[in-house]
Amino acid sequence: MKSKLFFAGRPEKPLVIAHRGARAYAPENTLAAATLAHTVQADAWELDVNYTRDGKLVVMHDDSLARTTNITTHPDFAGAPSLRVCDFTLEEIRRLDAGSWYAQTDPHGRIAAGEMPPSMVQSFTGMAVPTLEEALTLTKSLSWRVNVEIKNHEHLIGHTRVTKDVLDLIRKMDMVEQVIMSSFQLRYLLEAHTLLPELATGALVEGQRPADAVALCREHYASAYHPDRHLVCPDDLAALRDAGIAVNIWTINAMAEAETLTAYAATGMITDYPAATRAMMLAKGFRSA
Ligand code: G3P
Ligand code: MG
Repeated sequence: MKSKLFFAGRPEKPLVIAHRGARAYAPENTLAAATLAHTVQADAWELDVNYTRDGKLVVMHDDSLARTTNITTHPDFAGAPSLRVCDFTLEEIRRLDAGSWYAQTDPHGRIAAGEMPPSMVQSFTGMAVPTLEEALTLTKSLSWRVNVEIKNHEHLIGHTRVTKDVLDLIRKMDMVEQVIMSSFQLRYLLEAHTLLPELATGALVEGQRPADAVALCREHYASAYHPDRHLVCPDDLAALRDAGIAVNIWTINAMAEAETLTAYAATGMITDYPAATRAMMLAKGFRSA
């Protein structure tokens, strides 16, 4: 198997990978969520990539801007026939507030639980949707790592070029060693193998457990398997480990589950709660931070 730089020198114990940043405690996929994840000693963060109408790569999970921005109340966009990311230019998307929704919806109940200082919640107001370049710049400045998940662009103009655009940026920023690219669209992994074979890639799976996870990864040149937690079984973990394929599981928010998976030698936990996951690992002696 080719060298996969993202995992070079990785610790013996599981990686803590902050899902969309430390999204339980900050608006997901923002630079604030990433910075917070770094502060609580996550090993890496995970983000989602989407395309704007003018072909710019932005960090956004949903196809629609409705849930994680203020587009439905912003006067500039009243009556907009579509709320999809791909129907707005980057300049338009940059006018949106990608932070206030956190206070308004308390998506993980952390405000109600009294865990969020009001000044911190306030600081999210007016946050911009980051470009992928900004997210990578932050990651690089922190000498950190990131899992770049490319969303499905099958129905968009970007389907034919998204992998190349993402990889060109990673290469331009000299971050091959700091990135693992993943996607449910396994064709993007094949494209990555052709375009930048030294980049680590993760095969995302959900819904149905593959008959042979090792074969699936090998067929797509994936250095890692990224299963939904519901699809994980000890036999697969053992087979993948024996095959030298990393296993990063999502989304692990219960610490008992994280502990069990650590015992089964999973490579990484993609979690909304990186601080708690790190604390659990320290308490159990799984690794020193
Ligand atoms: O990359 C792991 C996980 O983020 C995949 O699902 O929907 O949260 O992007 P989703
Ligand atoms: Mg994701």
